Amino acid sequence: MKKILFVCLGNICRSPAAEGVMLSLLKERNLLNSFAVDSAGTSSFHAGEWPDERMISEAKKRHVILPTQSRPITDDDLENFDFILCMDQSNLKNVMKLKTAEANKNKIKLFCEYRKQLNFTEVPDPYYGTLKDFNLVLDIVHDAAIGFLEKENA
Ligand code: 4NP
Repeated sequence: MKKILFVCLGNICRSPAAEGVMLSLLKERNLLNSFAVDSAGTSSFHAGEWPDERMISEAKKRHVILPTQSRPITDDDLENFDFILCMDQSNLKNVMKLKTAEANKNKIKLFCEYRKQLNFTEVPDPYYGTLKDFNLVLDIVHDAAIGFLEKENA
């Protein structure tokens, strides 16, 4: 069982979307015994909150459920997870600052490194955007999740 942690700033928009989309792909492909997923934020601004209503409703239209409440990432997460997949460069830089064994830093990547069809190197923050921006996030994380499973479920 490999453990994946998705990380963004608030843990109410992008990383919950990545978690939910990955979970639905894992279910569809009968891979729930192979991978576990969770998400966290580099900030604790929204700790304890459910995901942003706009992300919940756009995800629901795609039959994607966002199952967890916001929590800040901790040093222990870098030890406990196998893949720490960040939504943008700023998230990655902040996760790299956490206290952990040097070897664990190899686990920290941009999720978009796994992209297939869509030419985005980061997942753009939709918080001050429109529903179109929320849907773009869902498209980007879906594309990267497909690429991730092709590469890491080998
Ligand atoms: P997320 O989006 O990092 O994708 O969860 C954001 C959520 C909240 C804020 C910024 C980004 N905020 O400034 O409160």
